[in-house]
Amino acid sequence: MAGSRRDFIFGSLAAGAMFAVGGMTSRAFAAAPGEVKVISLEECVSMNPLSMAESSAKVMAAWRYMKDSANMIGNAGLRSAVLDMLETPAPTVAESDEKALVAELKKADLLDEKAAGIFPVCADTGRRPQPSWAAPGSGWGSHHAYPGGLVTHVALNVASARALCDNYKAVFDMDVDRDVALAAQLLHDVHKPWVFQWKDDASCLPEATIAGTGAHHILSIAESMKRGLPAEVCVAQACAHDHPGTPALEASVVNWIRAAAIIAGRDAVADGCLEKGGKTLPLPRRPEGFVTHLADHDWVLSVSAAQWLTVELKKIAAERYHIRGKDLEGRPFNSFRNYVLSQRSAMELYAVYSRNGASRLAGEVGRVITAKS
Ligand SMILES: [Fe+2]
Ligand SMILES: [Fe+2]
Repeated sequence: MAGSRRDFIFGSLAAGAMFAVGGMTSRAFAAAPGEVKVISLEECVSMNPLSMAESSAKVMAAWRYMKDSANMIGNAGLRSAVLDMLETPAPTVAESDEKALVAELKKADLLDEKAAGIFPVCADTGRRPQPSWAAPGSGWGSHHAYPGGLVTHVALNVASARALCDNYKAVFDMDVDRDVALAAQLLHDVHKPWVFQWKDDASCLPEATIAGTGAHHILSIAESMKRGLPAEVCVAQACAHDHPGTPALEASVVNWIRAAAIIAGRDAVADGCLEKGGKTLPLPRRPEGFVTHLADHDWVLSVSAAQWLTVELKKIAAERYHIRGKDLEGRPFNSFRNYVLSQRSAMELYAVYSRNGASRLAGEVGRVITAKS
């Protein structure tokens, strides 16, 4: 009914409002009509993850947003270090003797006794295993696990961090160090391109665990430490996976910094990453770590959304694209979902599915990969 009280209060729910978030408008990363190239299933299966990411307007917009945000860092040395790590996420930490590090981590109770190694496959410690913009956002089956997923994840987080800094200032007149918050958020997953390298079946490598969390977290902190980034940035980065608000949670963050320091060959206390005695973060605890943690919460929605969406994509792949049997567990389906998600993102398509249902979702997939008759 036109003019109802509900319409008066909420306006048109379907229209969606334009608003500024972390310096961008609400549809800043949406592909313009015609920007998504519609391809055949055969073309899709023959593509590699790099060319999928490179062809995505949405992925490339997220990558540009990350670099624009890095360029907002006021400190020139920090700005160039962050840009260098984003452009060249080379695993320099892997120059160290892995066996010795494994033994030291086990002795410090920071690595499972059964673990044989800590480094993913590394052809050259001076070169990036793949560009940041081509990597998945997480392990296979988790959030944004498609080509370019990492930069869409980090762009959302950086937008959240920028908005949080603005909001704390606007509401409380609280100054968060924006250089530290930006650098920590931009670098928090910097070694995912190394950890989650693409495999021939178009899925990605499994991840090891170090100090009770995903290896990417520890290796990313270690890389920042080894490259000499300021302690405030390394500490804030370490808080991405948890915050130091209670003794138990802080103990985890302390362990991640201890493990990263061992891998980087650094002394965490002498570097100012831990308080004297090594039991807590530097005191008093700074707000930038909390901001980094809060802004890394994209996964709360995106893990579940990606998993529910993948179930639907499998049904669509079988019914409309005749991908069946073992092909649903291998390269044909993996490439199918990788191309669809790299072009449209799991978040955009999950919203379509949750609001409009499975057949509308299938229609949207058909606008990316031509359905079989
Ligand atoms: Fe992470
Ligand atoms: Fe993350």
